[in-house]
Amino acid sequence: MALKVVGAVLDALSDAALLLGPDGRVAVANAPAQARFGVWIVGQSYVSALRQPPILSLVDGCFAHGAGGAVEVTHVAEGVESRLRLQLTPLVLDRGLHALLVFRDVSAAKRDEALQSAFVANVSHELKTPLTAILGFIDTLEGPARDDAGGRARFLGLMRREAERMSRLVADLMSLARVEAQAARRPTARLDWAEVVRGAAEPLEDRMAVEMRLGGPAWVRGDADQLVQVATNLLENALRYGGGAAEVALDHVAREPVLRGPAWRMTVRDRGPGIAPEHVPRLTDRFYRVDAHRSRAAGGTGLGLAIVKHIVTRHRGRLRIDSALGRGTSVAVLLPDAS
Ligand SMILES: Nc1ncnc2c1ncn2[C@@H]1O[C@H](COP(=O)(O)OP(=O)(O)OP(=O)(O)O)[C@@H](O)[C@H]1O
Ligand SMILES: [Mg+2]
Repeated sequence: MALKVVGAVLDALSDAALLLGPDGRVAVANAPAQARFGVWIVGQSYVSALRQPPILSLVDGCFAHGAGGAVEVTHVAEGVESRLRLQLTPLVLDRGLHALLVFRDVSAAKRDEALQSAFVANVSHELKTPLTAILGFIDTLEGPARDDAGGRARFLGLMRREAERMSRLVADLMSLARVEAQAARRPTARLDWAEVVRGAAEPLEDRMAVEMRLGGPAWVRGDADQLVQVATNLLENALRYGGGAAEVALDHVAREPVLRGPAWRMTVRDRGPGIAPEHVPRLTDRFYRVDAHRSRAAGGTGLGLAIVKHIVTRHRGRLRIDSALGRGTSVAVLLPDAS
């Protein structure tokens, strides 16, 4: 009787759960456990069913002296490796000592942790480089260049450049954090995307040739500042890495399959050197640059496309990057039509 109740409770769990009977055999395996370990696990002895030494010694401890506990193990099924945290709870049911095993998949959490520490390492490195340069210039100004007025002006100029790069990095990090925090809040204001793009292109037009085919109005629900950020980054990328000229177009798409409805598509196209295919899927990773030296020299932080990606996601849109070496790059942003 009690066993039936436990079985029903385990079936309601989303984690894989096994109940071992006093005879050491699997009495109950809920659906996730059957999916993970196979349906044939029911009735098997725990020694052959579970195999891994850390799990076996945990179960031995339970049956020997009623001890509970937890271990973390790596489980491989069909070539996919996952990290499982196993919690064992001793249970007395129908006067017999049972062992309840609940397996929680912590792979995603582990991956997030690894990504997070890589991110912190990147940020530290990006900040350390200009900081080291500034400290070096201070040493020079205090020492060899103390009485050299011309040198002083030059070093101050260099220090300003490094400080500005740190300040840009901090601003980009803050805007990334802001968009991430807003991810679940879809913008509600209705605005004309064509006007937003025109406004973003204007300040860049004395540094690059921008050919615009916007038309409009192109009604979308959006955060104007963030859509300016998107257009600015794509145009700046065309300026820096795409040969210095860009074509910007806004087109209406009657039915966009992924967005399941009508949409507007903004395309920023350049005729620059293009991007090798192996880099394309990683361009939206934070700090990813094809040519780090060139990006740094141009004042880039490598966060631009990561921010763009987050903004587009928050707007429930899509980002597509098409590029071929020698033929240039085309970046499209699709947003649901809100007319
Ligand atoms: N139009 C393009 N043509 C060729 N390469 C590009 C283009 N756009 C981006 N890239 C490559 O992708 C990398 C990442 O772009 P992203 O906008 O994320 O960073 P960034 O421009 O280097 O710095 P930031 O945008 O933060 O100032 C760039 O460093 C560059 O190597
Ligand atoms: Mg950029």
